[in-house]
Amino acid sequence: MIIADNIHKYYGDLHVLKGVNLHIEKGEIVSIVGASGAGKTTLLQILGTLDHISESKNSNLSINKTNINGLSQKQLSKFRNELLGFIFQFHQLLPEFTALENVCIPAFIKKTPKAQVEKRAKELLDFLGLSHRYHHRPKELSGGEQQRVAVARALINNPRVIYADEPSGNLDSEAAENLHQLFFKLRDEFGQTFVIVTHNQDLANMADRKLVMVDGKTLG
Ligand SMILES: Nc1ncnc2c1ncn2[C@@H]1O[C@H](COP(=O)(O)OP(=O)(O)OP(=O)(O)O)[C@@H](O)[C@H]1O
Ligand SMILES: [Mg+2]
Repeated sequence: MIIADNIHKYYGDLHVLKGVNLHIEKGEIVSIVGASGAGKTTLLQILGTLDHISESKNSNLSINKTNINGLSQKQLSKFRNELLGFIFQFHQLLPEFTALENVCIPAFIKKTPKAQVEKRAKELLDFLGLSHRYHHRPKELSGGEQQRVAVARALINNPRVIYADEPSGNLDSEAAENLHQLFFKLRDEFGQTFVIVTHNQDLANMADRKLVMVDGKTLG
């Protein structure tokens, strides 16, 4: 599902990713751990097509058999909207929209019919324990509630690949446990592929495969 070969990233003189090689199968749940500053978020941004690979002759990134390098900006936006879901450290909900609206937006961009979108959005929010918070704006929600809204938003288009950066970082242990169960349930039911950066050892160890980022590379 994801093939990344020889991925390099420089920020100025700082060589953050030093030739990462990563092959992830469809339906696999892979966790990435490593020290703060090791380059985990940077790698996730690149795998999520949100950031560019630094020039390198022999690098390659392909997702769902699509070569990312060959896509125009417009094709890339569509690809991201329809195939990828993101749960990030800073969840960036839109402040002027309600929880329900935030969850619906990616599906409206995809032009899915409104009634269908709202039904699915409510199912996801209910599943995540937010049925009493549909019409709250982000500033009226706790950190953990905002995080769960961001999870529902990431799932609304049934993405093939979900990238999560510290997905349970703001959650208490029960909510974190529920979220982790949800990831495995989705994988079992829909074959979704997960790449999860986490400092949570339980979650990291539950994954099919745990990778450690050290010195700009991932070790299996
Ligand atoms: N936009 C940027 N410009 C310059 N340097 C950056 C930029 N983004 C990240 N870095 C640097 O790249 C390195 C890797 O950062 P990254 O955010 O990928 O680390 P991380 O492994 O996700 O850490 P954490 O566990 O703390 O989230 C760090 O040294 C960071 O300071
Ligand atoms: Mg990070």
